[in-house]
Amino acid sequence: MSEKKKPILELQDLHTYFYTEDGVVKAVDGVDLQVYEGEVLGLVGESGSGKTVTAMSILKLIPQPPGKIVKGDILYKGQSLVNMPESELRTLRGNQLAVVFQDPMTSLNPVLTIGEQIAEAIRLHQGLNDHDAQLTTIKLLELVGIPDAAKRLGDYPWQFSGGMRQRVMIALALSCNPDLLIADEPTTALDVTIQAQVLDLMQQLRDKFNMSIILITHDIGVIAGNADRVAVMYAGNIVELADVIPIFKEPKHPYTQGLLGAIPSINSKRSDELVTIPGTIPNLISPPSGCRFHPRCSKAMPECSEVRPDYIEITPGHYVRCLLYGTQLENYKIEKKAELK
Ligand SMILES: Nc1ncnc2c1ncn2[C@@H]1O[C@H](COP(=O)(O)OP(=O)(O)OP(=O)(O)O)[C@@H](O)[C@H]1O
Ligand SMILES: [Mg+2]
Repeated sequence: MSEKKKPILELQDLHTYFYTEDGVVKAVDGVDLQVYEGEVLGLVGESGSGKTVTAMSILKLIPQPPGKIVKGDILYKGQSLVNMPESELRTLRGNQLAVVFQDPMTSLNPVLTIGEQIAEAIRLHQGLNDHDAQLTTIKLLELVGIPDAAKRLGDYPWQFSGGMRQRVMIALALSCNPDLLIADEPTTALDVTIQAQVLDLMQQLRDKFNMSIILITHDIGVIAGNADRVAVMYAGNIVELADVIPIFKEPKHPYTQGLLGAIPSINSKRSDELVTIPGTIPNLISPPSGCRFHPRCSKAMPECSEVRPDYIEITPGHYVRCLLYGTQLENYKIEKKAELK
């Protein structure tokens, strides 16, 4: 479906590394990704796979040093963000790109009231006077479902419950009318009912404003209910990308198959029936050679440790980085034979 739409954001062979005392952490290591207008793109993967670093790279908020975008490009509406001056980036971040993090307490200013914080952002981004900024703040808080919004303008962040604080964060993100919202684990800290309400709210706002959303989570259940397309990340690479239904019905990459096997099923009687992927995510300073997943992969072949699989489109819009697909394994064997002669 999304294939016919225009990409609003394009990551091209993105590499973001961290130069630490222990070595170079290859956190994002060759990511290609497109985000279309009005879609929710889910980004999933185990902890440490590079999801947040990808998001921070898009916003150009990687702490430098130790971090650096070392290769590749990020195109936002066709414009390169990698070489954009900081002053232009700041305007873009304020007006078109917005982010919601997991813990709103760290993103909200504890000593300013909610009303002051949102109105300030609106004054700054929309150039409204105090009176109009306050009216717009109330409207935004109502939009995200804060009851008695006008009365709560004078409250501080700690006076809101977790779910309400997350709604305030979304209101703050929306104060700049973003075209692209990056939500990094936006509901992980919330209980299940509130989580569903906040996710539902994001869907409504997407429909209303035709906003694109990158929804980052390690919870594949959240993705199933909310994303149009899904990108699966492993050790700094996207290993599979497709519309949400094929990802769940016919996952191709052994890692995606493992992740899906790891979701608790409503029908499973005992918790010990859960399948987990053996092993842990590799050290990104010296990741495994070839396919980074091969040491944990149940379908690994000897060649998997020798050659990095290409990212290939196996059916329209369904991409996989695995030697099991396409002709890459045969090609590699032919090349190897030729070298031995
Ligand atoms: N400032 C930093 N300095 C050094 N390494 C970093 C820094 N920030 C992130 N990393 C490394 O980059 C890798 C990817 O981290 P990232 O935070 O993107 O993972 P994630 O997929 O968001 O995980 P989670 O699900 O736990 O949020 C990790 O190995 C992490 O240790
Ligand atoms: Mg993260």
